[in-house]
Amino acid sequence: MTVPMNKLYRPTQEEHARQGFVGALKKYVNGELERDVVRRYHDELAPAFNAKHGHDATNRYEAIPVLEPDPDFQLWCSTVYSSQDLLWETTGETVDRLLPQFDQRAADIEANPKRLGTLQLDPKLELPQPIGSTEIHRQPGGYFYRQSQADLSAALLYMGSVEIYRTAKGFGQIGDPCDTSSGRSLAQMLSGKYPELAPQRVLDMGCGVGAMAMGLKQAWPQAEVHGLDLSAPFVRFAHLWANDLGLELHMRQADAANSGYPDGHFDVIVSQILFHETWHDKLPAIMREAHRLLRPGGVFFNIDTPYQPDRIGIPEQVLNNWQVTNNGEPFWVGFSETAVQKEMLQAGFDPAGVFATYQAIGGGREFFLFGGQK
Ligand SMILES: C[S@@+](CC[C@H](N)C(=O)[O-])C[C@H]1O[C@@H](n2cnc3c(N)ncnc32)[C@H](O)[C@@H]1O
Repeated sequence: MTVPMNKLYRPTQEEHARQGFVGALKKYVNGELERDVVRRYHDELAPAFNAKHGHDATNRYEAIPVLEPDPDFQLWCSTVYSSQDLLWETTGETVDRLLPQFDQRAADIEANPKRLGTLQLDPKLELPQPIGSTEIHRQPGGYFYRQSQADLSAALLYMGSVEIYRTAKGFGQIGDPCDTSSGRSLAQMLSGKYPELAPQRVLDMGCGVGAMAMGLKQAWPQAEVHGLDLSAPFVRFAHLWANDLGLELHMRQADAANSGYPDGHFDVIVSQILFHETWHDKLPAIMREAHRLLRPGGVFFNIDTPYQPDRIGIPEQVLNNWQVTNNGEPFWVGFSETAVQKEMLQAGFDPAGVFATYQAIGGGREFFLFGGQK
């Protein structure tokens, strides 16, 4: 009998212990240590700045030189950096050990004429830059590692790290690296917001390894669910995973700004944490493409990071800026400084339905939600 994928991706006891340590370390850095830095800024550094300049720092550019020499800030930086190294080191152990089994399984599925759904790869796709050459989160090799070969390591590394990030960001630990609940929660949220919605065709843009697309299919079994991503290893992994779960999904390797689907093809287009991981110049083009792909009245709904400068404090902006520069998050700033509602209107969405808001989802953490209707 074939072992299900969530049982196949099992760290050994030693790997699990190391990964647990990294998760706990990251939770400490993102929680207590970060709060200490912010507190110190407000209690000591900001008053000192004010005493010297006669006014408070008004933006991160003024606050960066205030925080940079501070030992607490430096401790935060070095711990963020080294915990990230440890994350990849320990996830890499599990991935190296299990990769041959996953690669073999993907090869078997892709050769099976009775497999569920479709997988459309585009070996000629030129990765848009700088996306293609960026190692997001400093993931070794990035999302596109061995893009043109039958090697799922980029997808396995990503999937393996998600559970550690979950602990690190203070989400509840799910303990199942193949969790699809995000898609089911999103379907529920969409059905609540748009009660008339009865989707027949759904697209997840920047679907990654497919967790959300899988959950959407579980929630809306009658719908044809598609997932699109630039990364070949990611969509191959998603195709394998969908078959493992007995779900008929349609995966495509493509640029969300130039997807290749016909006009008006979808009732619903969604994305989760795509926009802060794509080059900000792509944003308007992806919105125009989503508008083109939706049928009239169709829904575009996006979940992303809540780090807009008017939403977070100045010391938090300095910390984010450090992550942008040093820890593999180069696209955060471009996204957080984009006026998404304006871009959506320019892309042609109905002004009556365009929204951008903050809402706590998935374990109570706040996200930035934006979207609209055609
Ligand atoms: C943080 S991952 C999110 C994956 C998935 N949505 C999830 O929630 O796990 C961002 C994804 O966006 C993809 N991506 C970035 N720019 C893209 C683009 N222009 N077109 C398609 N996919 C893109 C990346 O390859 C990556 O898989």
